[in-house]
Amino acid sequence: MDKLTYAGNLENLQPVVDHSGYSFVQADICDSETIDKLFAEEAPDAVVHFAAESHVDRSIHSPAPVILTNFNGTFSLLEAARKNKISRFVHVSTDEVYGSIDEPYDADENYPLRASSPYSASKAGSDLLALSYYTTYKMNVSVTRASNNYGPYQFPEKLIPLMISNALEDKPLPVYGDGQQVRDWLFVEDHCRAIRSVLERGNAGEIYNIGGNCSLPNLEVIHRILKATGKPESLMTRVTDRPGHDRRYALTNEKLTKATGWEPQMDFERGLATTIDWYRSNRDWMDRIKSGEYRKFYELNYANRS
Ligand code: TYD
Repeated sequence: MDKLTYAGNLENLQPVVDHSGYSFVQADICDSETIDKLFAEEAPDAVVHFAAESHVDRSIHSPAPVILTNFNGTFSLLEAARKNKISRFVHVSTDEVYGSIDEPYDADENYPLRASSPYSASKAGSDLLALSYYTTYKMNVSVTRASNNYGPYQFPEKLIPLMISNALEDKPLPVYGDGQQVRDWLFVEDHCRAIRSVLERGNAGEIYNIGGNCSLPNLEVIHRILKATGKPESLMTRVTDRPGHDRRYALTNEKLTKATGWEPQMDFERGLATTIDWYRSNRDWMDRIKSGEYRKFYELNYANRS
């Protein structure tokens, strides 16, 4: 199920359309009537809740859809799961709920919630709501908190696909502030395996961090993208910083590794090369995305950041 807003793209599901386990419903997770009916008809074994407005910059320009989808949408999914007695619910969240983490600490699952942006606050709120369904209704809910994802098919509003796409087109690469903000990078397939291990082996009422064991300052990521695409450093452009910009995210994975044996398998160099290859070979995909609503956002977000 997907609402197919600006970042939803059925083209991404082409490789699985003939799979017997696949069917698609276009719906808004805030539409509780539709969700309830769907859960009653389909009687799913489990709900894995990925649906979210996930971009910090968009949440700064326009917080309303972020709060509605991420908080109210999670509420209607939880309610429909409760009414229809669905036996497993995995709520997919983010390391951003911990806010900026000072060196030398890495957040474990008990780290305080110090969300900085409307986006991360909406996720922190929805995490608490999901966990309350375990405490109050004994629903079999687990929450995952992952670090920054990257890989094929990622919408080009996030750092890595945006920088690859601009580099391939010889356009400026906009670095917010001093570019020394640190993010932990997780390859998308490692994230998917981790969610699956939580779905199958995670415990009810528990939170599991999912980190990539790969902390890098943004400037380092951008240098590597320029090097791998063979483009000059002169494409890098400093622009005004993001308001409330978190300096550093860092997670420890110990709990998930102990519980399920999961560990990230992709090292950053290979993951980045795979991702760049994908974007190089799928320029049509990118062109189709860039011809639409995305162009408007790009102008809004980058026009006044000289
Ligand atoms: P982003 O991919 O938006 O993820 P998040 O904010 O959830 O970590 O940004 C990753 C980092 O890259 C963040 O520190 C902001 C920075 N950034 C830039 O410097 N320039 C950009 O154009 C974008 C999109 C992000």
